[in-house]
Amino acid sequence: MVSKRFWYVGMAALIMASLLLAACQPTAAPTQPPAPTATQPPAAAGKLEIFSWWTAGGEAEGLNALYKVFSAKYPNVEIINATVAGGAGSAAKAVLATRMQAGDPPDSFQVHAGHELIDSWVKAGKMEPVTFIFKDNNWLDKYPKGVIDILSYEGEIWSVPVNIHRSNVLWYNKKVFADNGVTPPTNFDEFFAVADKLKAAGVTPLALGDNGIWAATHLFESVLLGTMGPDKYRGLWTGETDWNGPEVKSALETFAKIMGYVNEDHAALSWDQAAQLVADGKAAMTIMGDWAEGYFKSIGQTPDVEFGYVPSPGTKGSFIMLSDSFGLPKGAKNRDNGIAWLTVCGSKEGQDAFNPLKGSIPARTDADRSLYDVYLQSAMDDFASNQIVPSLAHGAAASEGWVTAINDAMTLFVANLDVAAAQTAMAQACKTAGVCK
Ligand code: GAL
Repeated sequence: MVSKRFWYVGMAALIMASLLLAACQPTAAPTQPPAPTATQPPAAAGKLEIFSWWTAGGEAEGLNALYKVFSAKYPNVEIINATVAGGAGSAAKAVLATRMQAGDPPDSFQVHAGHELIDSWVKAGKMEPVTFIFKDNNWLDKYPKGVIDILSYEGEIWSVPVNIHRSNVLWYNKKVFADNGVTPPTNFDEFFAVADKLKAAGVTPLALGDNGIWAATHLFESVLLGTMGPDKYRGLWTGETDWNGPEVKSALETFAKIMGYVNEDHAALSWDQAAQLVADGKAAMTIMGDWAEGYFKSIGQTPDVEFGYVPSPGTKGSFIMLSDSFGLPKGAKNRDNGIAWLTVCGSKEGQDAFNPLKGSIPARTDADRSLYDVYLQSAMDDFASNQIVPSLAHGAAASEGWVTAINDAMTLFVANLDVAAAQTAMAQACKTAGVCK
């Protein structure tokens, strides 16, 4: 897992040193055309098909910014933007699986670092290692060891990370809070007190958009962490924390209670439609990953002006992390262009273009902090100092099969709020995954 050690500290000194070194290089004119480098790529042509689910506000802008960086370097390559809409890949993953089975991979595809990458694709023999891209670009010391670790298997690195997202954030409408005289809740007692007050005033306390069930699982992972703390939460994924124990029961009870405060049409909405309810002041809060920040900004809102943010109840000091990455499938039709794409994804320039719009922090250690807004700078600081724990809903904590089993349990639970049945199903899911006895 990612260590608490952070990388921004000391980077200023390193950057200064490299700038000084660069300034000392002789500047004699080259007698021959310069060899292609990361910044002067070889001429390339043809197509590049990139597969992702980034279609919502913030997501699409971030992806476009990466495409722009790519196209400036490779103007003759035609990008095919193969997106399948649906938050968290809820629709895209099945399409991708079908294509991969049929031997028709895109040139590169979005995949979460951790179990999703390694269990679903690498162990199945579907990917090429990308360690050579890290070596060719001297990236090995540009990424935190913890991030490289979750991209690695059997001595190779298997994808290029573009970001770090935080899952456990409570976003709130500042005006609605001020008008109702409430302050952001830090624990569940405060959350329910605030929610009661808002409900009495006719405001939906919490917006949820779980037309893809992952959004309910997403909320649940925050409730699990807020109920049991980071050590026990980590233990859920290693078999050390008992899924039949009192903490999971308490988390399920809290989740069931929260469902009494969400919008009635939650099952019909997507995550960004739920965020829009908050933006419009129709709901006061939503618990969502920081791609919601990208969404709020894409509709013209500003952090600390229209919307505020705090760790979800009970999770201050902990950071549920996930990382979006891109990989190189075996048999990619435009392999060279795929490698060029991955080189852009992993570059400082690419990451500093993408992340400020996406609502994520760069995976690299040498980002230009001044390009990031006040929320993202706070996320950088928290990532440096918090306990880092993996996301369930976004492929970091558990295998795809295990996540699917929990999503299935959540589908029933959201409908019937039967705590005992949900706990039994989740304990069974851990056994089926081979992690619990
Ligand atoms: C996550 C992904 C984010 C964002 C979100 C909503 O799984 O890591 O980048 O796209 O889904 O679609």
